[in-house]
Amino acid sequence: DHGEVEDETQFNYEKKGEKGPENWGRLKPEWAMCGKGNMQSPIDLTDKIVLIDHNLGYLRSQYLPSNATIKNRGHDIMMKFEGGNAGLGITINGTEYKLQQIHWHSPSEHTLNGKRFVLEEHMVHQSKDGRNAVVAFFYKLGKPDYFLLTLERYLKRITDTHESQEFVEMIHPRTFGFESKHYYRYIGSLTTPPCSENVIWTISKEMRTVTLKQLIMLRVTVHDQSNSNARPLQRKNERPVALYIP
Ligand code: MLT
Ligand code: ZN
Repeated sequence: DHGEVEDETQFNYEKKGEKGPENWGRLKPEWAMCGKGNMQSPIDLTDKIVLIDHNLGYLRSQYLPSNATIKNRGHDIMMKFEGGNAGLGITINGTEYKLQQIHWHSPSEHTLNGKRFVLEEHMVHQSKDGRNAVVAFFYKLGKPDYFLLTLERYLKRITDTHESQEFVEMIHPRTFGFESKHYYRYIGSLTTPPCSENVIWTISKEMRTVTLKQLIMLRVTVHDQSNSNARPLQRKNERPVALYIP
């Protein structure tokens, strides 16, 4: 467990709200980083400040078929993998990070040259020594996303029954695995409390597509009141952002 908060009522995304993003750091002592951290996420990724790095390496997931559970966390929909792993995961600088969970933010949390997208997927990985690495994808409106198509019936069941979770038997990595040649890399934080830092962020430059129906499906399943679960942009504080181009 990477310390994510599962009780939806503890924080929200209301702009000037008591439990909104500006106040997360004051809500609990363990969440102080949300307010005083200086390597927070999300940030705007600008091509201007990017270092082109040919040595970062091609990023390719090596997941295995796995059982999973889809959960309504109140602020998002999350797919949690049993035993916190789906195969080998990903390798970054020789360290292995195993897939823990996948969840979605809408609209996107990161922006690209100031542009925000309709959806951002986060694949949260963790190493043996407890370091987090999140791989993110941006989506624009267009053709259906295959992974969300396979999850549709589970999400519908959560909406219809108001159950908080559904079991998914043997999900195949072909539905959620990836290969990324062009991606941004920087060191940031979790974007929800406790906003822990030293998270290795990998944000694919290759855009995916999603239909409006799929976006609405994610929203309706959460059945929250606000129309965003994106944390506002955080200060970059001279952090380098690398762009890998093979
Ligand atoms: C993140 O991507 O940092 C998350 O939103 C953390 C989480 O899964 O709660
Ligand atoms: Zn996230």
